Amino acid sequence: MTTPVYLDCDTGVDDAVALGYLLASPAIDLVGVGTVSGNTSAAQAARNTLDLLALAGRDDIPVAVGAHDHLSHPYDGGAPHVHGDNGIGGVQLPPATRVPEEQSAVDLLIALSHLYEGRLHIVTIGPMTNIALALEADPTLPGRIAGVTAMGGAALVPGNISPVAEANVFNDPEAADAALSADWDVTLVPLDVTMEHTLSEDDRAALLASTNPFVQALGEILDHYFDFYLPIYGHRTSSLHDPLAAVIAAGGARIDVAPRVPVRVDTTDGPGRGQTIADLRGQRIGPRDHEGARVRVVLRVDDPIAPHLVTTLIGV
Ligand code: RIB
Ligand code: CA
Repeated sequence: MTTPVYLDCDTGVDDAVALGYLLASPAIDLVGVGTVSGNTSAAQAARNTLDLLALAGRDDIPVAVGAHDHLSHPYDGGAPHVHGDNGIGGVQLPPATRVPEEQSAVDLLIALSHLYEGRLHIVTIGPMTNIALALEADPTLPGRIAGVTAMGGAALVPGNISPVAEANVFNDPEAADAALSADWDVTLVPLDVTMEHTLSEDDRAALLASTNPFVQALGEILDHYFDFYLPIYGHRTSSLHDPLAAVIAAGGARIDVAPRVPVRVDTTDGPGRGQTIADLRGQRIGPRDHEGARVRVVLRVDDPIAPHLVTTLIGV
């Protein structure tokens, strides 16, 4: 039995790789994609997603445009220095003939929650604006959702967009706090673990060598991203933020440390804005779940993810 997944993304480079994994995973049935501004605008992310799905021969999957601005501030132009001017490393894909759905990402998510009631899993790998808006529009949503996997936050490690904040959460802290406080089970995949899993030049070469045009495009799209990470890791590579969340959502990774603990987001306007505050007290002798906590914070996945990711993608 496959798991129906709604993917909410800001299709960017690592979002594209995560999309490829979800398409390739035998455990997942990708039933819809909503886009949100973050790495690029929600509209551009939808164009990127449609072009990627067309390349993968998956024009059956609906793509809906979500929030352009965030709950408390306007979209700020994204991260072209990280993801390229168009969000996918400047690579020009063959343009899809398809256009986004008429309905919004929020309406698509709510509709899918009824269609797959009790089975739908949300994978969110961008700012959580659409998720928060969906909760506001339909407070009964969590009762129809099997679970949420969210790439975001930093528990015990520094942020990447500020000293304490990770980009997805920083771009919409109010939305992240709403998503992490709702009445559903969340698996949070923070920088603590995503910075420990990377792709190598050999991995990228393997993607480029694929005869599958979608997989080959991922290899091209990663080139710009590898340059960004050169000064961070000291060599060309890329963190596997969104792909790791996708692998975890598909059950493709053994999770070694992931306590269920209360997590709040700093929504003040001070230097801590966007910080994810996970209550990890009492963990010294090993992971200990807090009674009633709904957020599982993934702190360690020891087995390297890249080999599984690449072989799954190439098998597409
Ligand atoms: O901080 C990493 C996250 O921010 C990833 O989802 C990446 O795509 C960007 O959205
Ligand atoms: Ca993303």
